[in-house]
Formats: sequence, structure tokens, C-alpha cells
Amino acid sequence: MTETQDTQTSESVEELKSAAVAALNSADSSEKLEAWRVEFMGRKGRLTSLLRGLGSFAIEDRKIVGAAANRLRGELESLYEDRESDSKSSQAPVGSIDITLPGRKPALGGLHPSTQMIREITQAFNEMGFQTIEGPEVELEKYNFDMLNIPADHPARDQWDTIWVDSDTHDDVLLRTHTSPMQARVMEENDPPIRVVVPGKCYRYESTDATHEWHFNQVEGLAVDEGITLADLKGTLYEFARRVFGANRKVRFRCDYFPFVEPGVDMSIDWNGGWMEIMGAGMVHPKVLENAGYDSSKYTGFAFGMGPERISMLRNEITDIRHFFSNDLRFLTQF
Ligand code: DAH
Repeated sequence: MTETQDTQTSESVEELKSAAVAALNSADSSEKLEAWRVEFMGRKGRLTSLLRGLGSFAIEDRKIVGAAANRLRGELESLYEDRESDSKSSQAPVGSIDITLPGRKPALGGLHPSTQMIREITQAFNEMGFQTIEGPEVELEKYNFDMLNIPADHPARDQWDTIWVDSDTHDDVLLRTHTSPMQARVMEENDPPIRVVVPGKCYRYESTDATHEWHFNQVEGLAVDEGITLADLKGTLYEFARRVFGANRKVRFRCDYFPFVEPGVDMSIDWNGGWMEIMGAGMVHPKVLENAGYDSSKYTGFAFGMGPERISMLRNEITDIRHFFSNDLRFLTQF
């Protein structure tokens, strides 16, 4: 083979390369891309013809041109694959990312209405000097009942339908039926003065209806010190009602019975011309103080317990407590 021939065939690989690259760059649709593939890489395509024609070259040239042509095939194949995958992603089906779309607002989550209400309640008490603490939902019978002056044979136990925890080693484990056991736990661990609020979930073994759930939240409160009186209880709870329900809302206290307070009261607020009970409260029973190791001749205190879902229902005109835990976004996104 002459020098001229060699240069010509080498150039034709080069020519083919620039023609192929230019054509590929201007192939701006999947049809044109396919036409490009047929023209250059197809069975009768230009590169294939060039490779087939190698047989007519002298052995030396065949090696050089063959190597160059095979390299070109590799290059063109990978360029083609890149273009093909680009074109596939720009015709992407629904659901994949289209970077050309203008930004959409991401769906933002929010605080659960119970959490919002709990925070508002605890904040009102925090501002009056109460500290927020939490306690166990799986509780011992001792704290849920005994230390709160509710012995096993006490008829008041009927008031709380208890979910007991099945255990081989303990028959005294339950899901707390109220947050009041934290009164006993806090007093056991701390000396007076005490001012705490305890939000948390409670559980009861009962059938559900518009005003009853088998689980719900409560916010417990406890203040113990020397010289605390019923006037302190009333003053604190009036202030709470003023903050959460507004300055003009009337409130009412009536006598009520709870084994762990004496005297016991319930607090209602004026609601559409009637009275709606929002919490139980009272002066901590001397026995409860003594059970925790306090000297009841020296210390007195008050306690209260309320249901944040109940308060949220009043404020937001929610007619069924079960909405809170049904996980329905149509309800939850309204808050
Ligand atoms: N634990 C009571 C209940 O679940 C509510 C309650 C009443 C809490 C009076 C108190 C209280 O702290 O003093 O029904």
C-alpha cells in the first residue's frame, strides 16, 4: 500500500468521525437519533461499511485503520448511549423529575391539634412558674391507684376502666388511666416547693363514642408548699382560663369528689349559655402527701387534671373526639 492510500483511509476514519459527531449533536429528537444510529452504526451503516472494506487493505494498513475504526466505534457507541439516555429522561413519564418545571410548594407537616393544645396549656402554666415534666405511660398500680388514696377495694377504682399489661413477672403493671400518678412520683423524688404540669397520654378500657376515646391526653398540675390554700388554686385556674379562653369567659367551681383531693372541685366554663366542665381539681389529700413522705401538718397543695382534646373540642367546635386519632388529613390540616 502506498503512502497516499494510507493517508486517505486514515483521513476517512477522521472524516467519518467528524461527520458522525456533528450529525449526532444536531439530532434533536428521538426519531433523528434513531436515523443517526441507522446511518452510522446500522448493519449497512457508514462505519460498518468502513470496517467491512478493511479486507481490501494491505495487512499493515488494515491493522492501523482497523484499530482506528474500532476505537471510533467505541466512542460513537458511548456518545450515542449518552444522547439516548438524555433524550429518554427529557421525555420522562409522570412522577420523575423534570428540572425545567417551576418550583412547587412542598407539602409541610404541622403540629397535631392535641400537641398544639397541650403546648398552649403548658405555656400558660409555665408563665405562672410551673415546670413541664413527663412520666411513664406504662405505670405501676402503686402510683396509678394506691399512692393516690385509691386502695384495691375502693369503689373509686370503678371510675377508671383499666388496661392491664399482661406480664409473667408482674401483675401490677398497667397503662396509666390518668396523669395523676405523676403527683406521687414527683413528690417521692422531690422536696417542696413543687410546681409542675405533666402532659401525656392516658388509656382506658372503654368503648368509644363522640366524647370518649380509649386513649387521650391529660395535663396534670401540682403545687405543694407551706401555706397553699384553695384561694391559690382558684386564682391559678382563673388565670389559666383567662389566658386560654379570654378575659370575658365566666368560670364556675363546684364541689366534686376525687379520692386524692379534699376538698375536690370541678371547674366549668360558660359555654353557649350553659356550663361545660373542663377539669377536676382540689386540695391534695393529706394521705397523698403522707404517702409520699411529706409532713401534711406543714405542707399543703393543690392539684388539677384536664383533657386537652376536650378543651380543643370546645374552642374549635369539634363534635367528635375520635377525629383526633383517626389520622384523617381533612381534619388535621384544618389546624
Ligand atoms: N385524674 C382525674 C381523672 O382522670 C382528674 C383529676 C381530678 C386530676 C382532680 C386531679 C385532681 O389532679 O385534683 O379523672
